[in-house]
Amino acid sequence: MIDVAPLTLKSLTETDSDLAVFAAEDAGLAGLKALSAKEKSDLRAALEREGFKGKLRETARVDVPLLGRTRRVWAAGVGKRKGAGSESFRRAAGALLGAARGKSAALAVLCAEQTQAVAEGLLLASYKYEEYKKGDADKLQSARLVASDAASAAAAAKACAKAALAAEAVALARDLVNRGPSDKTPLSLAALAETFKGSGVTVTVIDKKKAEELGMGSFLGVARGSAQPPAMVHMIYKPKGGSKKRVAIVGKGITFDSGGLSLKPAASMIDMKCDMAGAAAVIGVFKVIARLAPKAEVHGIFAATYNMPGADAYKPGDVLKAMNGKTIEVWNTDAEGRLALADALCLAVQQEPQAIVDMATLTGAVVVALGSKVAGIMGNDRRLLAQVSAAAARADEPVCELPLVEDYKEGIKGDIAEILNISKVKGEAGSIVAGLFLQEFVDGRPWVHLDIAGTAFWSGEGPYGPKGATGQPVRTLLEWLGSL
Ligand code: BES
Ligand code: MN
Ligand code: ZN
Repeated sequence: MIDVAPLTLKSLTETDSDLAVFAAEDAGLAGLKALSAKEKSDLRAALEREGFKGKLRETARVDVPLLGRTRRVWAAGVGKRKGAGSESFRRAAGALLGAARGKSAALAVLCAEQTQAVAEGLLLASYKYEEYKKGDADKLQSARLVASDAASAAAAAKACAKAALAAEAVALARDLVNRGPSDKTPLSLAALAETFKGSGVTVTVIDKKKAEELGMGSFLGVARGSAQPPAMVHMIYKPKGGSKKRVAIVGKGITFDSGGLSLKPAASMIDMKCDMAGAAAVIGVFKVIARLAPKAEVHGIFAATYNMPGADAYKPGDVLKAMNGKTIEVWNTDAEGRLALADALCLAVQQEPQAIVDMATLTGAVVVALGSKVAGIMGNDRRLLAQVSAAAARADEPVCELPLVEDYKEGIKGDIAEILNISKVKGEAGSIVAGLFLQEFVDGRPWVHLDIAGTAFWSGEGPYGPKGATGQPVRTLLEWLGSL
């Protein structure tokens, strides 16, 4: 990733960075306090000659005399002025990065609004997944956000620092999700979590033996088909000076979902390395949590295991018992995420948090309902639902609520055990049924579930990131935790 930091107006005249500006479709160039009226009109005229209109994500490059010499200037459109909020600027910055990354070494970005979104767009778009092959090195090394006075310099510095923190967490989540499934065993994810120990963070790894002692039969059922041992990982962040608030974030960490004995067809299996994206988000957040320094005590829990059809795999018809004593009849071993999460949620409940948020690539049905750009949000507490939805809106990671209509519980009444892991009613409200199943394990505590099966992993390039892992919902979590 490139380096993004603030720059004072005075030092701008001394650098030979290329410049970058943002423009609205109907209101011209924005935030150019650094330039004289003559310079502005020359720049505008040059961009007009290039046919640049300022449409969202449109870019252009012109050479104009500015700030004492001929400068290369990049322009990026944010679309219509009225609709241009943080996401427009983030996307415009992503497009700017894409246009300039091979051609400029350093950018001085003249931008007086949405500075955090701009910094995020630049950083997130410069991410590359390079664990197995190095791409061509980008020419672009750094971007500086130019501030016109001391007050805006302080604001820009803060925006850059916040954006860098978010980008670091997102990059780790993306790396883990993009990684090949055999290279991210549950034990290796646990070992990674252990590296976050110190500065307010403690980590406990619950291995197979310990999980047996604790009665995590639901999670262990899923793990039985794999030669690789599972790990339930429990990280705790405690703020300096303590806190009365305590929350838990819980992630599904299926390091590969073959479907188990209810085997997936080859075409549905191809992207199933992404099935630990919920856990990856929790890990990403914990990498930076001491620097985020939320006011609440935060428990980060993830249930990591493969779902494989090995010789001792759990079978349709098996009955599992979760940590809270509930018995579960397995009708489909491909509905494994909710089984792994059941025990992770029970562990969260034991910490007596005032709020639990889980995230999971849980159902194909949520992709049918909401596509790849909107996550499903469900929960049992209006206040927490509103809080997390507001955080998602601030992060521009869209969510849409699916109601946990109790009528659908009828479909998961067990024949020989208390609850089924899939609905008897075929094709009925798959994402809600999964949500209702999870609700059985939160013991009535305020809880929200994010179904990120569509949003965590994209088959095409995004507006500020390559195809593959998106890093969602890391920025939503950071927003939420930061607001507590
Ligand atoms: N990991 C999948 C859900 C998924 C689908 C994630 C597409 C990402 C993209 C989950 O474990 C699963 O297999 N769900 C089943 C549930 C069904 C058996 C009730 C599904 O959605 O088909
Ligand atoms: Mn599955
Ligand atoms: Zn799964």
